[in-house]
Amino acid sequence: MKNTIIAPSVLAADFANLQRDIEMINNSEADWFHIDIMDGVFVPNISFGMPVLAAIAKHAKKTIDVHLMIVDPDRYIKTFADLGANYLTVHYEACPHLHRTIQAIKAEGMKAGVVLNPHTSVDLLEDVINDLDMVLLMSVNPGFGGQSFIENTYDKVRKLKALIERKGASTLIEIDGGVTNKNAAQLVEAGADALVAGSFVFNAENPIQTIADLKKLTSK
Ligand code: DX5
Ligand code: ZN
Repeated sequence: MKNTIIAPSVLAADFANLQRDIEMINNSEADWFHIDIMDGVFVPNISFGMPVLAAIAKHAKKTIDVHLMIVDPDRYIKTFADLGANYLTVHYEACPHLHRTIQAIKAEGMKAGVVLNPHTSVDLLEDVINDLDMVLLMSVNPGFGGQSFIENTYDKVRKLKALIERKGASTLIEIDGGVTNKNAAQLVEAGADALVAGSFVFNAENPIQTIADLKKLTSK
């Protein structure tokens, strides 16, 4: 029985009704809260920072999955642990000493993830895959919600799944960007374990039903 993790991205929530949207996720079949932190340097956009995450964490009753789109993420590992992050995921492209960063995340008691931009090959993770709790594959260029899904992602998921199996690792595969009911099942078939969905969930007329539909479509 496959149980795909559904992680709504709070980036697409209504920030003037944040508590309402957090409670919606609490009351839905979603598994995780996906939290996008952008610094305007690593990516061309700025999202939100620590005070907003603290406010979210106060109400969130599910796993908090933090996706850091920032340069030099090592500076904030302890801060995010203290804020209640359960998964902390850093960009491969932002970490010159990735092995050290991964160990530092785990030393703070969090699960460690690495994100790859669409152009970054999964082969580059060969020597750290056994240390990773999760690999997040970007299926859009990071920085904005509401972009369209890059089709090459299916291939990357299959390659990553093969690497994980070859190395005997137990790493989860998460997909982020342009996820909808049109690509969700195919992503899971290719090997994805967790799907982030922002605009598809929050722009829907009935987000709770949309989450339930995504869950049903991807859990067999
Ligand atoms: C993009 C973020 C995503 C974003 C996804 O840089 O990492 O998590 O919120 O939004 P959608 O699902 O609208 O593509
Ligand atoms: Zn994200």
